[in-house]
Amino acid sequence: MKTEILRADPPGLARAAALLLDGDLVAFPTETVYGLGGDARNDMAVARIFEAKGRPQFNPLIVHVDSAETARRYVRWTETADRLASAFWPGPLTLVLPIRPDAGLSALVTAELPTLAIRVPAHPVARALLAQFNGPVAAPSANPSGRISPTSAAHVEAGLSGRIAAVVDGGACDVGLESTIVGLSGAPALLRPGGLPQEALEAALDMPLALRGAGDPLSAPGQMTSHYAPGAPVRLNATNLRPGEKLLGFGKVEAAMNLSPAGDLTEAAANLFHHLHAMDALGAKTIAVSPIPDHGLGRAINDRLRRAAAPRP
Ligand code: TXA
Ligand code: MG
Repeated sequence: MKTEILRADPPGLARAAALLLDGDLVAFPTETVYGLGGDARNDMAVARIFEAKGRPQFNPLIVHVDSAETARRYVRWTETADRLASAFWPGPLTLVLPIRPDAGLSALVTAELPTLAIRVPAHPVARALLAQFNGPVAAPSANPSGRISPTSAAHVEAGLSGRIAAVVDGGACDVGLESTIVGLSGAPALLRPGGLPQEALEAALDMPLALRGAGDPLSAPGQMTSHYAPGAPVRLNATNLRPGEKLLGFGKVEAAMNLSPAGDLTEAAANLFHHLHAMDALGAKTIAVSPIPDHGLGRAINDRLRRAAAPRP
């Protein structure tokens, strides 16, 4: 299969929507990372997503829709969902709610869980594609399973070229980290830290979120311990360099690459996956990473870095 590179203009988006309607896979930009989209109602399309990524098991997928109003067709809506959706959609937040029996989605999307993960992306290209396609799009991050998430069309091509029908090139992603996932089938719970800081959610809810540990079956099941792995091993909280290491810095340090010389967590999040890709290309034997403060977006950055550093299966 030759992967088409589509422009984010009306003819490109029309082509992308037509491919989706045919059950083909199209990678597209969101404000968080690039997604690998398929028609969430079409079993073949959803099966192709797992095949293209080489996902070892059927982890449930996030469904992308154009509005909270559309989301209500697929999940049992609640007052809390409404509060979070009003505050943060469109944006980097995924809500997990009980799926409606009449949702009409492929069973592969939820991996037979009674809940569905759903979000309304903010990226104008994602929104234009959803409008044109006029249906629910299942989309995991557009990377081969276990590798770093893509924040540019070039990253997608490097990982999935020849395995998917097309990529819509919409430039670099602003947020650079996947969406924050909040479970709402019981007390609001943080299932995956991400591009929307926990503090912002707790302020909107006016209560603390329940936290889920790794290994907790209610935690986002696709959160395997080793994930987001660059080619080279990763050493965290590095304050010095050992032989063969290159430093991925944060703040005022001398480093091969720096997530944010100014020590800004938003900038560091936006650069994280791009810099990990680039450090691999620099041929680092080991990637040493400066300490990152563990608040705001720093929590999601540290979550991804811990997974990148975890022993590989
Ligand atoms: O920012 C994002 O969320 C990106 C863009 C493309 O939207 N998507 C993304 O998808 O990160 P993916 O497949 O890489 O991660 C989806 C996560 C997995 O950890 C999965 O286990 C979890 O969502 N998930 C999906 N459905 C779930 C459910 N019903 N309950 C709990 N977790 C769920
Ligand atoms: Mg992913």
